[in-house]
Amino acid sequence: MFQHVEAYPGDPILSLNEAFGKDPRPDKINLSIGIYFDDAGKIPMLPSVRAAEHKVVAEAGARPYLPMEGAANFRTAVQQLLFGADNAAVKAGRVVTIQTVGSSGGLKVGGDFIKRYFPTSTMLISDPSWDNHRAVFEGSGLSVKTYPYYDAATGGLRFDAMLEALKQAEKKSVVLLHACCHNPTGVDLTKAQWQQLVPVLRERELLPFLDLAYQGYVDGIVEDAYAVRLLADAGLSFFVANSFSKSMSLYGERCGALSIVCPDAAQAVNVLGQMKATIRRNYSNPPLHGGQLVARVLSDPELRTMWEAEVVAMRDRIQAMRRKLHEVLSAKLPGRDFSYFLTQRGMFSYTGLSPEQCDRLKEEFGVYLVRSGRMCVAGLNTGNVEATANAMAAVLG
Ligand code: LMR
Repeated sequence: MFQHVEAYPGDPILSLNEAFGKDPRPDKINLSIGIYFDDAGKIPMLPSVRAAEHKVVAEAGARPYLPMEGAANFRTAVQQLLFGADNAAVKAGRVVTIQTVGSSGGLKVGGDFIKRYFPTSTMLISDPSWDNHRAVFEGSGLSVKTYPYYDAATGGLRFDAMLEALKQAEKKSVVLLHACCHNPTGVDLTKAQWQQLVPVLRERELLPFLDLAYQGYVDGIVEDAYAVRLLADAGLSFFVANSFSKSMSLYGERCGALSIVCPDAAQAVNVLGQMKATIRRNYSNPPLHGGQLVARVLSDPELRTMWEAEVVAMRDRIQAMRRKLHEVLSAKLPGRDFSYFLTQRGMFSYTGLSPEQCDRLKEEFGVYLVRSGRMCVAGLNTGNVEATANAMAAVLG
């Protein structure tokens, strides 16, 4: 019956993480998956989230199905987090927010919606982008192409080429943009570049789809929502998928949302209705528990203050690791420029290591990086950063 089912070659990120789990070497180092580990190499349980969980569990009663669009308190809290409490588009009823199964769930139902209502639109993703973007949108039946983004020569952004490509894009193309903490490169647009992008998006009638999976990991919770608020203030219609996996260390709870900013409140009502239909066709309704932890942290003033400080601490620790890695590598290989570790932002850096060099790192040194050369800087800690730098120097040298 299943002879025609071919073997799964594996996922470049998740399968590598599985391989790491099976590696018996005690000194192995996991810089593969986009997960924040603390300085002891553990996934933290944030005290704010733990306190929220105590309260939520103490108050929990029956477990009904959530509505298709998710819990109202979660959706309202997410809107305020992304758009700000006084946002004009939110107040005008133009923003639809649905709770999704992680932000991947938001990409998926967004992709299905786009396929249904913009069937001839092409999905444009950055070159490179998160490995799963292409898979998710192709899975929705969309045609996926790339626009220029990363400049391998400088470790920076090919902004002019990006802008030019978007100026040539077919009208109503959907443009996937990383709102902050670009995955996999760590190369973000500056505020001025976002501002330059807006007229191009408007004139070409492009439909932006922001992916905001790392809010708080670059400059701050509000600062990292800059692109969301800029596009909303510019009066554009767009999508934004966001996640609490990293910012609240709630990976397995799959807490995400998809917001759609619409031209007016009447269209927003219909968009919400069709998003509900899309969710019903995919998984009926989202899970209850994790979203309630998020809603509690965001809406309880004391927990909110705790959480904001926790995000700062995670961000500062990553920055310290960037500086340390840069320092050790620059001392070991004095002729080389490792400044990209300092200029690239957020959880990831694109090391420029070849797939073969990544294979050597894994096989000889037990240091796991995605074969594209992406390093999750949040996997470094004071106990493994020097060993990582030594291993990198060995394969580079
Ligand atoms: C990553 O990019 O490593 C994370 O977002 C985890 C994933 O699902 O790929």
